[in-house]
Amino acid sequence: MRPVVASSPAFLELRDAAMACTACRLAETRTNVVFGVGDPDARLMLVGEAPGRNEDLQGEPFVGAAGQLLDELLSGIGIARGEVYIGNVLKCRPPGNRDPREDEIDSCKGYLRSQIRMIHPDVVVTLGNFATKLLVPTEVGITRMRGSRIDWWLGATLIPTFHPAAALRGRPQVKADMEQDFAAVAEVLASAARSEGSDPVQTTIGLS
Ligand code: URA
Repeated sequence: MRPVVASSPAFLELRDAAMACTACRLAETRTNVVFGVGDPDARLMLVGEAPGRNEDLQGEPFVGAAGQLLDELLSGIGIARGEVYIGNVLKCRPPGNRDPREDEIDSCKGYLRSQIRMIHPDVVVTLGNFATKLLVPTEVGITRMRGSRIDWWLGATLIPTFHPAAALRGRPQVKADMEQDFAAVAEVLASAARSEGSDPVQTTIGLS
């Protein structure tokens, strides 16, 4: 059976620890820690890169234009935002929305690892290169990785796709590709019959 963690003290403790985190330089410039949002018992978890300006101000992931597109992609497969869990590789905004640095990812990845372990989703969708390369150590870029269904940690299926910001900036095909990837998510969710009590698939992940 999937663990129920919504009210779990461990999940709240993890959140409290992240909210007070000063492990990297981003603690000095953030307005809010953006821990994550949604249903901690969700079967689907989405992992983005890092909070942007709006997310930093509001303390919630994907509240800007990229978030609207994400909501649209989810509703396209019949899922509401509140039914999933949304987190990021980094919990604090890199100033000026620069790329996350390696030491910042190293400092932060334990939170993501614990979130995934406690939420224990059936499907993890990585949004863009940073999330994908952290969770599936690979040199292969997102353009080639997207849409693949990877047997991953704890028996979950990991499906990489583009970052929604890429669809907002890029050719219409990027959004069409993302729609296709979300259709794959729906398919896997529909067929996810995780056999109770079976050993989890243990693959290498970049979070340890
Ligand atoms: N981009 C991300 O990767 N995450 C957010 O929360 C917002 C924008």
